[in-house]
Amino acid sequence: MTAQIIDGRRVAEELRRLLRERVGALNAAGGSAGIGTLRVGDDFGARMYRGAVAKTCSGLGLRSRAVDLPSTAGREEVEEALQSLNVDEGVSGILLLRPLPPHLEEASLAERILPHKDIDCLNPANLGRLFGGRRAWPPATPAACLELMERRLAEQGVPAAEGFAGAHVVIVGRSPSVGRPLAAMVLNRHATLTVCHSHSARAGVLVEICREADYLVAAIGVAELIRAEHVKPGATVIDVGINEVVECAGCGRRVPGLVAEPADVTQVCPACGGLLDGSRRVTVGDVAFAEVAEVAGALTPVPGGVGAVTNVMLARNAVAAAEMTR
Ligand SMILES: NC(=O)c1ccc[n+]([C@@H]2O[C@H](COP(=O)([O-])OP(=O)(O)OC[C@H]3O[C@@H](n4cnc5c(N)ncnc54)[C@H](OP(=O)(O)O)[C@@H]3O)[C@@H](O)[C@H]2O)c1
Repeated sequence: MTAQIIDGRRVAEELRRLLRERVGALNAAGGSAGIGTLRVGDDFGARMYRGAVAKTCSGLGLRSRAVDLPSTAGREEVEEALQSLNVDEGVSGILLLRPLPPHLEEASLAERILPHKDIDCLNPANLGRLFGGRRAWPPATPAACLELMERRLAEQGVPAAEGFAGAHVVIVGRSPSVGRPLAAMVLNRHATLTVCHSHSARAGVLVEICREADYLVAAIGVAELIRAEHVKPGATVIDVGINEVVECAGCGRRVPGLVAEPADVTQVCPACGGLLDGSRRVTVGDVAFAEVAEVAGALTPVPGGVGAVTNVMLARNAVAAAEMTR
C-alpha cells in the first residue's frame, strides 16, 4: 500500500477537543449550545443518525432535544414542531432528519427553519448563499469532506488563503445533500471543478475524467465503484459512500444489494456459486479501498473517514450559531 490513510477518527477527536474548549467558554459567558432534531416517521437511517448526533452532543457538553412525529404527520404538524425548535433558546441548531415521508416536501419545510439555526444548510435561503459564494452554515457531510481535503492541502504546503489553488477537484455524485453543496464549497475555495454523475458513466467518460482529478470525491452510493483505473497516481481520494455488502465465505467476493438478515440469505455467490448463507456483512465505501490505496497519494477509509467527522461538523455549526447569538 502506498497511499497515506486519512484517519477521520483522529481528525474528529482533535476537532472535538477544540470544540470542548469553545463550549466551556460559551457556558462560562452564560450562553448555551444545543442541537434539536426532528424525525418524521421511523426510518432506520434517521434513527441511527440521531443516535450518533446525540452521542456527539453529550460528549461535547451540548444539549440535545429530540422531537418525533408519526409518518402520518401533516405539513402543519411538522411546521409547528420546527417552530417549537426555532423558539427554544436551548437549541442553537436544528436538524431535520431525512428521509421524510413522501407526502412531505423537504425544501418548503426547510424554509421554516430559522436561517441562523439551519446547521445542515437545508433552508433554500442558506443554500442560495452557499451557491452565491457568501457565508452560510456548511452542510455537515460536505463540510467533513472539505475539512479532510483542506488538511491535505496544508500538508502539501498550499497556504490556506489559496484554497485549492486551482487544483482539479472531481466530484462523482450530484445529490442535493452531498455532491451539489460540496461543488459550491470547493468552487468558493478556488478549485477547478468537474461534477460527474450517472450520465457521465453512461456516456463512458467517467474513468477518463476521474483520472484527471487531483482531489477525487466519491459520493455515489455504489459499493466500490471507483477502482484503481479511475485514480491518477498520487491523487487524494475522499470516499463518502456507506454501503453494506455480503462477503462470500467461500471465495471472498463482495456482493452488493443484499438486505435480508443473514439467516434469510439464500442467494448464491455470482463468482463461486456457493450459498451466501453464513457469509459476513461488511460496510464498504464507493471506492475499492485496497486497489486504490496502491495508486492514490492519500485515501479516506470506510468506516473511519468522512463519516467520523460529519457529526462533529454539525456540532461545530451549532456551537458557532450559539456564539453568534450570545
Ligand atoms: N459519510 C457520511 O456522513 C454520509 C452522509 C451522506 C451520505 N453518505 C453516503 O454517500 C453515498 C451517496 O449519498 P447521496 O445521498 O449523495 O446519494 P444519492 O442521492 O443517491 O446520489 C448519488 C449520486 O451518484 C450518482 N451515481 C449513481 N450511480 C452512478 C454511477 N454508476 N456512476 C456515476 N455516478 C453515479 C447519481 O447520479 P444521478 O444524479 O445521475 O442519478 C447521484 O448524483 C451513499 O453511500 C450514502 O450512504 C455518507
